Amino acid sequence: MRRLVIAVSGTPGTGKTRFAGLLARKLGAELIDLNGLILKKKCYRLDIDGTRIANLRRMRAEFARIVKNSRKPIVVEGLLAHLLQARHLTHVVVLRARPKILERRLRARKYSAQKLRDNLEAEALGIILWEAVHAHGMNKVYEIDMTKRKAQAAVRLFLDALAGKVSLRPGKIDWLEDFF
Ligand SMILES: Nc1ncnc2c1ncn2[C@@H]1O[C@H](COP(=O)(O)OP(=O)(O)OP(=O)(O)O)[C@@H](O)[C@H]1O
Ligand SMILES: [Mg+2]
Repeated sequence: MRRLVIAVSGTPGTGKTRFAGLLARKLGAELIDLNGLILKKKCYRLDIDGTRIANLRRMRAEFARIVKNSRKPIVVEGLLAHLLQARHLTHVVVLRARPKILERRLRARKYSAQKLRDNLEAEALGIILWEAVHAHGMNKVYEIDMTKRKAQAAVRLFLDALAGKVSLRPGKIDWLEDFF
């Protein structure tokens, strides 16, 4: 079987870091924090107001280097992980959370009202899921509702999906009524 290289993406606050850490431990996989990699390897430019804009081409090149130099399975997490190249990924997990719950989690951070709204809207519309399916196709993308699920339970569910015991086929979640 091909070595597992699993991307974990999702709106901020959906629980990527926790989920990916547990998953990597279960699989004995190398864990890559994609945001950390972007910072460390300077795969970004600064916008006029000082915000960092990721350079996707360089991010992909740095990740390609990691895939090439390691034989271990890899779990890579971050909100740009679904934008890594399809040929480097065997699976893409998109974590979802009901916007109302996400709001509670994100309010604990010092986000501006605008940034909070942008993130909740992105989750309500399922933008990351859409981008993931667009780039990788339905069969490679796994969608998990983290609204009421502990990270550990979510990892178990994903491992069951890998074993073909359950389906995490995308498209079952719809927050639109809840949000708008
Ligand atoms: N399954 C869960 N159930 C409830 N709370 C959770 C769950 N997973 C994470 N959290 C909490 O939600 C917050 C966000 O979790 P985490 O940092 O893992 O999200 P993230 O998707 O990695 O966010 P970011 O994109 O900002 O890195 C944290 O306060 C964490 O403790
Ligand atoms: Mg995180």
